[in-house]
Amino acid sequence: MTAVSAYQTVSPVPQNREAQLKAINLLRKERNAIILAHYYQDAEIQDIADFIGDSLELSRKAANTTADVIVFCGVHFMAETAKILCPQKTVLIPDLDAGCTLADDCPAEEFENFRKQHPDHFVISYINCTASVKAQSDLICTSSNAVDLVKQLPKDRPILFAPDQNLGRWVQKKSKRKLTFWPGRCIVHESFSEEALIKLKLKYPQAEVIAHPECQSNLLELADFIGSTSKLLKHSEISLAKSFIVLTEPGILHQMRLRLPGKTFLEVPGIDGCSCNACPYMRLNTLDKVLTCLETMKPQINMDENLRRKALKPIELMLSMSK
Ligand code: 13P
Ligand code: SF4
Repeated sequence: MTAVSAYQTVSPVPQNREAQLKAINLLRKERNAIILAHYYQDAEIQDIADFIGDSLELSRKAANTTADVIVFCGVHFMAETAKILCPQKTVLIPDLDAGCTLADDCPAEEFENFRKQHPDHFVISYINCTASVKAQSDLICTSSNAVDLVKQLPKDRPILFAPDQNLGRWVQKKSKRKLTFWPGRCIVHESFSEEALIKLKLKYPQAEVIAHPECQSNLLELADFIGSTSKLLKHSEISLAKSFIVLTEPGILHQMRLRLPGKTFLEVPGIDGCSCNACPYMRLNTLDKVLTCLETMKPQINMDENLRRKALKPIELMLSMSK
């Protein structure tokens, strides 16, 4: 087995941690708050979440919750999407600096110029983008529904796909539709080493390789199954394989190991053996910050109402077009 994961279930809970968990639980009740967490959060955050999911599931959960307050343990674009869907709710993010390279590398003004260069194109944007980019898009997708949505688009319309070109290339291959890409990439998924993956495959020939579509195409070509974080988890549950080489952010290994203690999950090191495939933005959220934001009701996600309405349209279209 390669590098020991930081996500193996740890116990027992230290005493001060117990007090902290008690305080979080009291405040969550008092404020009628729901804690939503992405699979790339630290294990201790996943363990206190009311709901854990991929981007699509988290959007759906945010849209349907009866809670007054959403504590979004994920990155900024995810919390922003929750606010777009639920303007009347208070949306908190434990660390406001939890960004995403895909969203950061697609500034709204440059994206507007890019769109203007392709005026006849249908614009489909990955949910990993800012509200301003969403507002300029015809449709939003996630890694879970992108192929299915692109297949539903009119055959005679050319398509712009932003901002992740790795996801875009995979969608192009699966949907057999020609896409024009914005040149964005995720620093985390781009850091996996092909050489390390091949070595692991040779060492564990029975293991299935499961990958997130944000990985580069040379790695995806070596994968047995490709899908969103939730789909990777579901696949590992239904697959007959007993071991898996996991090409995505290692936070998800916590749920895999909790749900499937009899199976083995192997991490793939980054280029030069670095452990750079832990998302530095996702990891900014901590239990301390979850407690602080519930105490202070800050930091909150707020946005201009005009922008929110424009960004809502392509998200609603996505939700209505997704199975
Ligand atoms: P999922 O929608 O598959 O959870 O992906 C979100 C993400 O940011 C992957 O890097
Ligand atoms: Fe963004 Fe990549 Fe982190 Fe996902 S893993 S939030 S795409 S930087």
